[in-house]
Amino acid sequence: MSRIAYVNGRYVPLRAAAVNVEDRGYQFADGVYEVCEVRDGRLVDERRHMDRLVRSLGELRIAMPMSRAALAAVLHETVRRNRVRDGIVYLQITRGVARRDHAFPPAGTAPGMVVTARSHDRAANEQVAADGIAVITVPENRWPRVDIKSVSLLPNVLAKQAAREAGAREAWFVDAAGRVTEGSSTNAWIVTRDGKLVTRQTDHAILRGITRTVLIDLLAVQGLKLEERPFTVEEAYAAREAFVTSASQIVMPVVRIDGRPVGNGAPGLTAGALRRDFHKFAEST
Ligand code: PDD
Repeated sequence: MSRIAYVNGRYVPLRAAAVNVEDRGYQFADGVYEVCEVRDGRLVDERRHMDRLVRSLGELRIAMPMSRAALAAVLHETVRRNRVRDGIVYLQITRGVARRDHAFPPAGTAPGMVVTARSHDRAANEQVAADGIAVITVPENRWPRVDIKSVSLLPNVLAKQAAREAGAREAWFVDAAGRVTEGSSTNAWIVTRDGKLVTRQTDHAILRGITRTVLIDLLAVQGLKLEERPFTVEEAYAAREAFVTSASQIVMPVVRIDGRPVGNGAPGLTAGALRRDFHKFAEST
């Protein structure tokens, strides 16, 4: 079955899907995006992803291309047309097409919008989680507003590639004070030796992950202790467990950091339990 993309008002085969070369997303990375998990054909935490999208657009003064309801309809229709049961739906909105000039285009320039969806192999992902992943640490080199989910991801791309080349799956950014901010496409967590869960507080230095937010609700219900604060790389090396969260990886155990085993080098029990229970707390639509 050929894949279908939504591009500026039309559903088109992916191989024919294209945007104008003067789209500001292409020219300046002047746009935002969202990635939503699809599970059993439903969108996971759509409402929260839409809230974050509206915030990202507002911060960058990009107009919503359509109403929230219409946007939701496009997301669901793209998932349906691609027959995705388990996978992700990707949405990107840019400041639109205009003659190249750094400053904003004339008022009324229509935002550009693209939606794609693709399946993933749930069993294969479960196997990755059962094995756990390795992460490396890299210096934080992003702009100070990564709370905005911008498509401007060059440092993240380079960090992820460095991880791949080191035989790892994720890279954790580390700030000038030696504290982990987040992963190149995930939020970072540790479980301390005395059983506290630690993840950085949401300020402008990390993306407020939706998976992170839902997990915090789950922790409260399970009576687990949470500390929202930065943790150092040294603390992570000494942690009992570590894991990352994102829409596409849910809760993914980390078993090595910079080549050193975390805990006993196997996926942690806390991460495993949180991964198992996550979807009971997520909304699905
Ligand atoms: N990544 N931090 C960064 C830098 C991210 O790119 C992401 C998401 C997260 C986790 O956010 P959430 O739980 O809302 O997915 C944290 C998406 C999945 C991506 O870029 O593919």
